Amino acid sequence: MEHKILEIRAAYKSEINQAASLKQLDEVRIKFLSRNGSVSALFEEMKTLTKEQKPLAGKELNALRNFCESLFIAKKEEIEAQSSIVAPKIDLSLPGVNYPVGSRHILTRTLDEIKSIFKSYGFSVSGGPELESDFNNFEALNFQADHPARDMQDTFFVTKDFLLRTHTSPVQIRLMQNNKPPIRAIMPGKVYRNEAVSSRSYCLFHQVEGLYVDKHVTFAELKGTLVAFAKEFYGSNLKYRFRPSYFPFTEPSAEMDITCFICGGKGCRVCKNSGWLEVLGCGMVDPNVFVKIGYDPEEITGYAFGMGIERTAMLKYGITDIRTFFDNDIRFLNQFK
Ligand code: PHE
Repeated sequence: MEHKILEIRAAYKSEINQAASLKQLDEVRIKFLSRNGSVSALFEEMKTLTKEQKPLAGKELNALRNFCESLFIAKKEEIEAQSSIVAPKIDLSLPGVNYPVGSRHILTRTLDEIKSIFKSYGFSVSGGPELESDFNNFEALNFQADHPARDMQDTFFVTKDFLLRTHTSPVQIRLMQNNKPPIRAIMPGKVYRNEAVSSRSYCLFHQVEGLYVDKHVTFAELKGTLVAFAKEFYGSNLKYRFRPSYFPFTEPSAEMDITCFICGGKGCRVCKNSGWLEVLGCGMVDPNVFVKIGYDPEEITGYAFGMGIERTAMLKYGITDIRTFFDNDIRFLNQFK
């Protein structure tokens, strides 16, 4: 018995020393200390000893078991300490990682503001595709076949009959083709023009179109609606004027100007010394347009207007270069949080 105890003690010690991982350590524990392990087998064997032999053998066996257990605990602590050097525990005292929080783009914010004002006047919001037919973009809007806007210089043609829309006015056509009057809607969206890129013009920009068609719609209503909008959007003490203009799809046509808020109307670089800033185009829907889409121009009248969203935001926030809207420079975007 004594001999066996010494043998097991030596074997255990060397196997424990070789264990390099908790898994290996546990294998050694099972081999020696589990119910079927070799130490337990010795306890079993003790039952066969004589009464006289038992007390001494029991003492020695208990000592062996204690020796094995304390060696196991010491080795376990050693392995754990080593692995914590390789994979350090999380330092809970470190400050957390800050993820940058985005904000709405200034164009989205400007459009949202425009939308909410017109919604409060009873306008709904509609949209149409950016790839348009020549018919909707030009033909139905009363552009003559030789109108300069159809020129390859201004329009991105995709095929002979399809193009990237140059304005949101074709959505007027779609709305009128699919609905009966009264129609009162604004139509925001992207538009494309084949123009030289500069601080004032870009190949892509956004517009909001407005359309109101019904019986007895008047120019006075057009003016009243746009003046109310401009005062709400730009400020209530704003001065404005309507200037006669020309669009193929409206008759009469006008452009709305507001006093330059940079110089207060005295004249500066932004308003090109005129004291006025143009904010939108508008007019009464041309009877020819009603004929094209099948409304009776004797019965139905209407007004339309359109404004550039970039231009509107540039005026309101004093932005001087249209390209900054599309650069995605975080320093520009952050100014409008
Ligand atoms: N579509 C015109 C443009 O792009 C703007 C406009 C819309 C003018 C509606 C009158 C009526 O310049």
